[in-house]
Amino acid sequence: MLSGSWIECALEKGRRSVRDRFQSWMLLFLITGSAASVVGCNSDRNPVEPPPSPQLIASGKQIFRFDTFGDEKFWTDTLHMERVIQAAVDPTTALSVGLKVDMDTLPAALVQAIQAGQVDLKSPATTVALIKLGAVVGVRGTVVTVNGRDSLTRVGITCALCHSTVDDAFAPGIGHRLDGWPNRDLNPGAIIALSGALTPAQKAVYNSWGAGKYDPRYNFDGKNGPTVIPPAYGLAGLHSVTFTGDGTDLEYWNRYVAVTQMHGQGNFSEPRLGINVQQPAPNLVEPKLPALQAYQLSLNAPVAPAGSFDATAAARGQVVFAGPGKCAQCHVGQEFTDGNTRLHALSEIPTDPAYALRTATKQWRTSPLKGVWQHPPYFHDGSAATLADVVERYNSKLALNLTAQQKADLVEYLKSL
Ligand code: HEC
Ligand code: HEC
Repeated sequence: MLSGSWIECALEKGRRSVRDRFQSWMLLFLITGSAASVVGCNSDRNPVEPPPSPQLIASGKQIFRFDTFGDEKFWTDTLHMERVIQAAVDPTTALSVGLKVDMDTLPAALVQAIQAGQVDLKSPATTVALIKLGAVVGVRGTVVTVNGRDSLTRVGITCALCHSTVDDAFAPGIGHRLDGWPNRDLNPGAIIALSGALTPAQKAVYNSWGAGKYDPRYNFDGKNGPTVIPPAYGLAGLHSVTFTGDGTDLEYWNRYVAVTQMHGQGNFSEPRLGINVQQPAPNLVEPKLPALQAYQLSLNAPVAPAGSFDATAAARGQVVFAGPGKCAQCHVGQEFTDGNTRLHALSEIPTDPAYALRTATKQWRTSPLKGVWQHPPYFHDGSAATLADVVERYNSKLALNLTAQQKADLVEYLKSL
């Protein structure tokens, strides 16, 4: 599949240049009958295939932010998070485990009351009120009012829980949504561990993950080795998803997470890992995947803020990246990855291979680097705290012998991407 679609895209590119030269592309297109391969290169800025419609992207945005795919049957019926939240999760606690509040959903009167210190941030009832407003990013709840008292009866999660954050415009943890930005403050393990439905051993594993990390394999293989939550932006044109390139499109992994991690209602099968989850109709995941994918592909990596790097040093660093640093041997093209053409043996990369060994490919995909300034710590397991640490790891692993100046310049270049 991977090489197949790559070859088709390469062929299609060739056909395009022929077309451009002879201006007879219509005829050529009909002769080669290449409609199928055109579909295979959808995000390759192919002039033949229309880009996703604004309507499809808009509907994908709603799904990304608000759709639970019916996962309440897990978060409510199994974990009973609605009870946990109502009993113990006041807003201060919620913010401390990295949950974010979308200020654009708050009525002006509430904003004023918060500013005036009139809202009890130590009361779980306030959290329920925020969930009722739809203000807690990635959390969807049903609130029923009985005798004037609000009660949270059902709760579920959305993609935005892990892959959105806010810009803190109002206060730390409260601001405008930033979709696609990984929520590296979120501590999913600590949140799940609040459930009374887990054994002490399970709770210990969940509590060991820490902020910004999640293990999307633990419920299958029982091993404990979380990855950082990666960005869901800057992925257009890349036909290799996850740290290990398990799938060739976002839909593959979106289906995996929606069905097997969020526990939405749908089907997922992966023979390479012996996974086969089939649930009764209706399928609440599959029909939404095209729009969900279109929305993610529309999310560009954020540009490095002005003044956040030294442009002169970055220009020197670019030379190191392409030359003595050997970085461009793998980090190539617009997204800085060779993921569309190959994956890498575990021994080539200066990171712990344990996680990759649990995946379908058992190899690493070169990580895209657009917007890399935005999301420390680095590598799949967050084992490099800073970009300087990343450079140091490559310097010793690949025996690069870079000078201190070259290393510093390389870091400035990475900060500029
Ligand atoms: C509980 C946190 C969590 C939730 C919820 C979640 N993800 Fe993720 N996501 C992760 C982690 C962790 C990974 C890294 C796994 C890997 O690469 O092996 C990941 C990987 C990804 C990737 C791959 C990025 C790349 O560089 O290839 C995409 C895209 C993605 N998620 C989108 C989604 C979408 C869409 C949803 C909703 C259907 C979703 N995620 C829900 C934690 C989460
Ligand atoms: C042999 C291929 C290869 C070479 C050479 C290479 N990289 Fe990488 N790079 C990868 C892979 C694969 C990963 C993901 C590894 C992981 O997360 O465990 C990665 C990850 C990274 C990351 C972390 C990205 C993130 O989202 O956390 C940075 C930064 C990076 N590389 C920069 C560099 C620099 C700078 C160089 C040159 C000094 C370099 N790479 C050389 C393949 C390569």
